[in-house]
Amino acid sequence: MPNASHAPPICYNVFDFSQTFNQPMPHTPTSVVTNHARPHMPTIHWTESGVNHTALWRSERGAPPPKRVVIADDTTTADAAYHLACEGTALLWRGDFHNARQLLQALARRVDKTPQRKKRAKGKATDADAPAVPMANVFNLHRQAQAQRARVLGMVLLPFEADYGIALRRAPDARLACAEAWGPVITTDGASVAPMRDLLGMISAHEWRKKGVEVAALGAAPNNRIHPHYGVFSPIRGEYVALVATAPLPQAGPSQKDLVAFDIGTGTGVLSAVLARRGITKVVATDQDPRAIACAHANLTQLGVSAQVEVLQVDLFPPGRASLVLCNPPWLPARPSSPIEFAVYDEGSRMLLGFLAGLTDHLTRHGEGWLILSDLAEHLGLRTRAELLAAFAAAGLVVLGRMDAKPVHAKATDSTDALHAARAAEITSLWRLGAAAT
Ligand SMILES: C[S@@+](CC[C@H](N)C(=O)[O-])C[C@H]1O[C@@H](n2cnc3c(N)ncnc32)[C@H](O)[C@@H]1O
Repeated sequence: MPNASHAPPICYNVFDFSQTFNQPMPHTPTSVVTNHARPHMPTIHWTESGVNHTALWRSERGAPPPKRVVIADDTTTADAAYHLACEGTALLWRGDFHNARQLLQALARRVDKTPQRKKRAKGKATDADAPAVPMANVFNLHRQAQAQRARVLGMVLLPFEADYGIALRRAPDARLACAEAWGPVITTDGASVAPMRDLLGMISAHEWRKKGVEVAALGAAPNNRIHPHYGVFSPIRGEYVALVATAPLPQAGPSQKDLVAFDIGTGTGVLSAVLARRGITKVVATDQDPRAIACAHANLTQLGVSAQVEVLQVDLFPPGRASLVLCNPPWLPARPSSPIEFAVYDEGSRMLLGFLAGLTDHLTRHGEGWLILSDLAEHLGLRTRAELLAAFAAAGLVVLGRMDAKPVHAKATDSTDALHAARAAEITSLWRLGAAAT
């Protein structure tokens, strides 16, 4: 799997957050926090056997609590559930857990067969007999279809007890997976309700976190695995990591021991670890996402390079200057539809343009900025090469060199994918940027 992110955890899986859900969870006690500080959380209300109920509402994609909720169980048919879900009525499951999973799969099949999906498939630029549809339209239809799919599938809800246990027949013990995604149990929170789809994603993320992703650029097994946490961009695409592992390091001065590097938006910490393994003794890694910060700490410690890398939770740059400032921003300028998509979509190119705008102020003399960027946005009609080069120039930067790599992920060769034409043409580049002479 991975996926979004970017893995399963979130697997930057080329924007396809597909997940595998079938591993039973090991029983591991969840740590319990009894502090009462809690940001405001929405609640969901429903009536069951004539009694009104309320519980905390948890939605990873930030969806509001559904206003209409009915109770569903093993007698609920897929057609009835699909009809309810499409009209915005949520189904709170009280039956067998495995049956709920099958119901979800049945709903997914129905969503994927809708006329809109067929229309999207027709828009594929690979259809020789279909009129050419601009890729930007294909992309927008694809995103709309993904959003609709998420809305419908997000209507199958599960009840969680205060300790994240699920009191349903044949339900797995997913308390650890929930704690990894939602944070430790806060006993005063009480019961909660969340989409089953979220739980399956959390279980999948837990498995990926346990197993880890092998990163060849980190050296020989077994000490070359990155363990992505839930919601953190996963380095399942090795080509961009390999570029960072092989690009020539800038000269830092009399001694390469003086070379300081910044890794902006470190995610799992993978690129900082690669730089540390290349012998750089001082790397400062930043991220603004607390999940990424915790994940990077854990990975760098486990890889034995934490003494070489400082991890800071800041917006873009740490204070000071470095001979090498590296950034792998989200590659597509589009609005994320959920918080876990923030590592994939960069609305208004905020991170890309913020990195470029601040780069010269954070480079030492003769220092280099390394920008990792795929040209998928160009193939999708979301950005032109001329706009990218103009952004470099506007930031006072010149191109010192560029290294390219062809993605080898499965989506690149999947001709049934709506975005196949763009993905098949995609190139990932490491742009070496320097300050323009003044
Ligand atoms: C595409 S991911 C790259 C992660 C990692 N560097 C890698 O290559 O696998 C982009 C990362 O940038 C982080 N990010 C986004 N905006 C940021 C900002 N303004 N400041 C710092 N980090 C940011 C995201 O949280 C995410 O972890």
